[in-house]
Amino acid sequence: MTVKRALITGVTGQDGAYLAQLLLEKGYAVTGIVRRSSHAGVFDHRLKWLGILDEVELVDGNLLDQSALLRIVQAAKPDEIYNLAAQSFVTSSWQQPLLTGQVTGLGAVHMLECLRSVAPQARYYQASTSEMFGLIQEERQSETTPFYPRSPYGVAKLYAHWMTINYRESFGLHASNGILFNHESPLRGVEFVTRKVTDAVARIKLGKQKELRLGNIDAKRDWGHARDYVKAMWLMLQQDRPDDYVIATGRTTTVRDMCAIAFKHVGLDIDDHLVIDPALFRPAEVEVLLGNPAKAKAAFGWEAQTSLEALITEMVDADIRRLSANA
Ligand code: NAP
Ligand code: GDD
Repeated sequence: MTVKRALITGVTGQDGAYLAQLLLEKGYAVTGIVRRSSHAGVFDHRLKWLGILDEVELVDGNLLDQSALLRIVQAAKPDEIYNLAAQSFVTSSWQQPLLTGQVTGLGAVHMLECLRSVAPQARYYQASTSEMFGLIQEERQSETTPFYPRSPYGVAKLYAHWMTINYRESFGLHASNGILFNHESPLRGVEFVTRKVTDAVARIKLGKQKELRLGNIDAKRDWGHARDYVKAMWLMLQQDRPDDYVIATGRTTTVRDMCAIAFKHVGLDIDDHLVIDPALFRPAEVEVLLGNPAKAKAAFGWEAQTSLEALITEMVDADIRRLSANA
């Protein structure tokens, strides 16, 4: 039997690690692109956490370097390419708007150019995002909802989204956009709100911290588990025809209520510890996101498997274990 080959950009991130694990379980040979860091012990912690570091072939590259990407794609000969690399933190996109445009926006076109030039038969996944809906134009956002991005990150992702559609239509590539709503896990970066909360709750419980400072706790998000969402990425590339799909749970919750789940899990009262810090409010906010994943369910039977309560308690428990081990 021929072994399928997958290439993942952003393999060191949250989704890259879970996707690599899923593809390895399915018998794929997985190559991941890693950008150079000055500290070899930093980039691989998620792959180590999942116990798959030795099973992924890691190659040196950067989404900004087209020459490296071309060589990598030529050598890897992938059947499937998952473009997950991005400057993915919305807040940073106001501090580094040009870098965000170059990596998150143009970076996708670097990958599409590789397909067009040397791998037109490969199937391509683009990590699109619910941030493109921004100032929402419909109560429940689907594939047909008009976009209105509210951050340099959202605008960059929208460019990548439309370039993916354009290359599909212009060159007949099997290129699909997954419009994923927020998804989290114990491997989430600590700058994102769920992990910031679960890490702080664990620290407070262990007596290492007293307060949790947050910005806009009235914002609402449709949060799912990254482990469920990477399955949808793979399923999209198994379809005969490329297309674009919303991936979401269909439930939205305020940041405050998400926090309350975390505090309650360890028997603490949120009001004893939560401090609102105006410095953490964003220049333009996405107040509410709520996805309608009906198209993905109808096309390939995908549904979110993990409740917000199960997700947040798994994250709190993992943070308590992590902090206790490092004590
Ligand atoms: P993440 O944890 O921030 O991972 C981002 C990855 O991109 C990391 O591996 C990072 O490498 C890599 N990267 C950044 N700049 C790069 C560059 N110039 N060249 C090569 N690699 C670079 O993000 P995630 O949560 O896994 O999300 C994966 C993708 O889905 C991203 O494109 C994100 O924007 C998108 N998305 C995420 C969500 C969500 O809720 N998680 C929702 C919708 C869409 P380092 O390890 O070196 O930093
Ligand atoms: N990060 C953070 N830190 N967010 C806070 C805080 C805080 O202290 N206080 C309140 N929030 C609010 C933000 O204002 C936002 O409304 C919400 O919590 C979620 O913020 P993040 O967890 O940073 O995620 P995001 O929704 O901005 O972006 C994530 O999801 C997108 C999909 O919708 C990222 O993963 C993006 O890459 C992804 O595309």
